[in-house]
Amino acid sequence: MPVSPIPAKLLAWYDVHRRVLPWRAPRGRRADPYRVWLSEIMLQQTTVQAVGAYYRKFLSLWPDVKALARADQDDVLAAWAGLGYYARARNLHAAAKLVAGEWGGKFPGSAAELRKLPGVGTYTAGAIAAIAYDERQAAMDANAERVIARLFAVTTPLPKAKAELHDHAMQLVPARAGDFAQALMDLGSAICTPKRPACPQCPLEKYCRARKRGVQEELPVKTPKAVRPLRRGVAFVVQGASGAVLLRKRPDKGLLASMLEPILGPWTDKFPKDAIKQAPFAAQWKKRPGIVRHGFTHFELEVEVYFAQMARKPKLDAALWVAREKLRDVALPTVMRKIVEHGLDEGGPLFDYTSSARKR
Ligand code: ADE
Repeated sequence: MPVSPIPAKLLAWYDVHRRVLPWRAPRGRRADPYRVWLSEIMLQQTTVQAVGAYYRKFLSLWPDVKALARADQDDVLAAWAGLGYYARARNLHAAAKLVAGEWGGKFPGSAAELRKLPGVGTYTAGAIAAIAYDERQAAMDANAERVIARLFAVTTPLPKAKAELHDHAMQLVPARAGDFAQALMDLGSAICTPKRPACPQCPLEKYCRARKRGVQEELPVKTPKAVRPLRRGVAFVVQGASGAVLLRKRPDKGLLASMLEPILGPWTDKFPKDAIKQAPFAAQWKKRPGIVRHGFTHFELEVEVYFAQMARKPKLDAALWVAREKLRDVALPTVMRKIVEHGLDEGGPLFDYTSSARKR
């Protein structure tokens, strides 16, 4: 089989145009697997732009895998709050404990072994092994998938096309596997964009089957997403005299496990007729105008928010009071941040939501 010119062309482009990203090693240096792993887990469902600040915060709190393994789970969840998909944070912590313990503090040295870590699937193991060890693995994020779908004019819809795209990419991986993986991602981000790709500036234009056929903007084909069901409920935001907000911890299994929330009623298909019956105690509940909307992976949520100011702190089992200025530092996921902010309804924005940028 003739050797494809594609890898060399792409790497030459990458050597000039590569993005500077916080988790990337300087040119010609090997990346630390801890840093690569941490960034890849964060990047699984979150955009590059949103990940930066979280990545830096994690590294300053826990500079290596042993430090992360020693951390308290609540602190890890708190540092992750706002980034979404919290199972990632729990798996991250569990994996750090495994590496620090069973692996003696040294990261597994191949994609096959990396896959044994919680939260590390085929894609992430390939990405870490390629970037940290230059193992010949394809690392296909959405940008790389788009580039390969167009290069080979793959018309099978995603996600079904994943294996086919991976096979095409594997045929191309050169010795500089880590740079190649990141070069595909950078080309997809800068040139081979979803809309109006800049084909005349692309180092692979000559080899691109989609471009040859003029179908680059139609690829990759995507299977339409199923409509998500709508769920509705009521929340009760309580503020004590000192300004602290009443929160409680969610169960340690299921959606948003072990994270904090204000007092919530059940989520069903309708708002309750008599919402106040769901209140945790008698108070002068004020209904805030409007509703809070939030999209989860499998459903949409709409929440009506009631607020009460308590002169004295009411007693409530398993509830804790969090000072207003500490709300940003605890494990309060984005949906709950929105509800608390809507309930307090004063004093300007409490949170910065630019961090909750999900992919797609
Ligand atoms: N998306 C997933 N992994 C990435 C990486 N290492 N660089 C840029 N974007 C990514």
